[in-house]
Amino acid sequence: MSEQSVKVLVTGANGQLGYALQKAAPQILGAKKLHLLPVTRESFDLAQPASLVARLNELQPEAIINAAAYTAVDKAETDQQQAEVINATAVGVMAQWCAEQNIPLVQVSTDFVFDGKKSSPYLPEDSCNPLGVYAQTKYAGELLALENYPSTYVVRTGWVYCEHGSNFVKTILRLGAERERLGVVADQVGTPTYAIHLAQMIWQLLIQRPDQKIFHFSDAGAASWYDFAVAIFDAAKTKGLLEKIPQVNPITTSDYPTPAQRPAYSVLEKQRTYGLLTMSPCHWQHALSAMLDAYKRQQN
Ligand SMILES: NC(=O)c1ccc[n+]([C@@H]2O[C@H](COP(=O)([O-])OP(=O)(O)OC[C@H]3O[C@@H](n4cnc5c(N)ncnc54)[C@H](OP(=O)(O)O)[C@@H]3O)[C@@H](O)[C@H]2O)c1
Repeated sequence: MSEQSVKVLVTGANGQLGYALQKAAPQILGAKKLHLLPVTRESFDLAQPASLVARLNELQPEAIINAAAYTAVDKAETDQQQAEVINATAVGVMAQWCAEQNIPLVQVSTDFVFDGKKSSPYLPEDSCNPLGVYAQTKYAGELLALENYPSTYVVRTGWVYCEHGSNFVKTILRLGAERERLGVVADQVGTPTYAIHLAQMIWQLLIQRPDQKIFHFSDAGAASWYDFAVAIFDAAKTKGLLEKIPQVNPITTSDYPTPAQRPAYSVLEKQRTYGLLTMSPCHWQHALSAMLDAYKRQQN
């Protein structure tokens, strides 16, 4: 352990947020040089919680950002045990280890911990009522982390997308290139989050280390999946990523049934996050434009 550097373990390094955390990593953290330790499931498997303490003892991180998760929302409905182990049990083990070492832990969670019955943005202290297995396991992960280590930072976010990895933006672009028309759900409202902005928020959290423990973060504004899809096509056409915009029709959740139930409304209230971390909000359409620019650069 060097006096001059701080070793930060990032789990799920191949995921969207794992990639973004590496891309947005600062050089310096708390007056020390940042030593990033990105790990994937091959070397740090959350499905094997019993192996994690030995791995942590070997790696000796001085902070952990848990960007790994079982994120297949619909598959989790029939794979509950695996989702539970990865999203909750393993989180509890990491939290216990961080408590013993007294080092920061950032546990990333989801807007899906809410049931969507509100019609105004969810506050960090609003009561949770997760609807599906994925959401229930993520909520269980929050509770276990805070129980084992009350200093855990829980960061709830939603609708994450990035130039790296699989997400709604890339799926919609692919469908747009393949189809003349498509239907997109218009009765689920949330806020898209560019993973790079979420990563910047998490680094800011570790730099500032405020007292508050539960944070909400997404980009600013609100949209339905339908609004998001229309905006993706418009921006992609303008940027030369799509030749022709297909016909997009608004449909209802009941027109497009999925195994997991999702909240109808999951906009997060972020004023406190912006204030405490001295960050400025970025409207989701501007964030989308930035992601599509990065995606285009990657393609060239
Ligand atoms: N995506 C969203 O819309 C969204 C919304 C709200 C909250 N979140 C939360 O945000 C965080 C980051 O999500 P993301 O969008 O970056 O997800 P992602 O792109 O699906 O990445 C998840 C990462 O977790 C890794 N992982 C899965 N099982 C693992 C295991 N057993 N051991 C170690 N690593 C494992 C995956 O590894 P492989 O690459 O090997 O599969 C993947 O790299 C998660 O906590 C998620 O719950 C995401």
